[in-house]
Amino acid sequence: MNRKELNIGIFGFGCVGYGLFEVLHKTPGLKTTVKKICVKHEGKSRPIAAENFTFNKHDILDDPDINVVVELIDDTEAAFEIVSEALKKGKAVVSANKKMIAEHFRELLELQREYNTPLLYEGACCASIPIIRNLEEYYDTDLLTSVEGIVNGSCNYILSKIFSENLDYNVALAEAQAQGFAESDPTLDTNGSDAKYKLLLLIAHAFGLVLNPEDIFTLGIDRIGSTELQYAREKGCKIKLVAQAIKHTDNTISFFVIPKFVSPESRLYTVDEAFNGVITHTSFAETQFFVGKGAGAYPTASAVLSDLSALTYDYRYEYKKLQQNESIIPSKETLLNVLLTNNQTDISEYTDLFESIDETCTKNGGSYIIGTISLSNLKELVKHPTGTPSVILQSIVDNVNAFNHQTIAELEEQVV
Ligand code: HSE
Repeated sequence: MNRKELNIGIFGFGCVGYGLFEVLHKTPGLKTTVKKICVKHEGKSRPIAAENFTFNKHDILDDPDINVVVELIDDTEAAFEIVSEALKKGKAVVSANKKMIAEHFRELLELQREYNTPLLYEGACCASIPIIRNLEEYYDTDLLTSVEGIVNGSCNYILSKIFSENLDYNVALAEAQAQGFAESDPTLDTNGSDAKYKLLLLIAHAFGLVLNPEDIFTLGIDRIGSTELQYAREKGCKIKLVAQAIKHTDNTISFFVIPKFVSPESRLYTVDEAFNGVITHTSFAETQFFVGKGAGAYPTASAVLSDLSALTYDYRYEYKKLQQNESIIPSKETLLNVLLTNNQTDISEYTDLFESIDETCTKNGGSYIIGTISLSNLKELVKHPTGTPSVILQSIVDNVNAFNHQTIAELEEQVV
């Protein structure tokens, strides 16, 4: 097969940009030339010769010889502008920018269609794990019933260090930053946003449902306190930040990002440090488990490299699940068994929001509830001003029966 030669313009030369530059130089089999790298700060010293760089995006976007743009910058809106302009000019694009892709998913679909130009983004989801391409190609006909995974390397690193070494949360976070795993704004990792963007991509490719980021209920690891850690240890579990999407038999999908107790029986239990792990369930292949480094310069650069290689034979996502047009919609209700904790406040007032209670305890001003609650009540509860409780998922309750709960609004009426 005659493979296309790639003349590349790169935007961004941070951790992943530099990683990619090195990886490309160590991969002589791939016929690529990096023509220019566009960066923002002129005064910064960089490890390669100055003639590689430009500060003007048009040096790449208006160069007719450049047929591929690799977008690896931080600024979401600037990245979207660059990617849109490149696609409009018929340049294939590779991006690892999950926030930008998740926030502009529909527009990017439309641009790819209208200008018949590919956008690939394996590096945006679980770094070195080739999950997007597998969802797109391998699972194009076998029916997926769920996708569950640890998709943020930084949170997994922090939680692993807390569990294995008793490391302080902030020290572990600083280590994740120092190793280049965290976002420049690490709250995007710790509050679960990064995992949410990745779950949006997984859901689009696994089930053909395009969501807005705000549709995905998300809790990060930033609320986890000593009670939950102690509870996990007593039960022989670890806590992992898990992104999950489950397809029900009525063609509805439940999805969320919530910290979860993970027992040794789960494949995710052994996924530690900056590794990511994704479990898929399908009708025929049953359970499959993907694991690999989920953050860092080389693991992400390896995914970008794979996308570049795919472009040499004109690969593009066909968005097969979107084409299958299965009229999949978000599930109206999902029941979750959770541990709800607040170390400062008595949260016993929330018990009425639960479908059923397994255990409650109030001591030293704080309290916890273990029980089953609907996702919609959980959404309201975590927004409640007296709240900011921590929530750890124990399990999803299969039985989505009639609901018999009070809403937050009803509870407030009673209080008044
Ligand atoms: N900050 C991200 C993470 C980088 O920790 O997973 C890889 O997407």
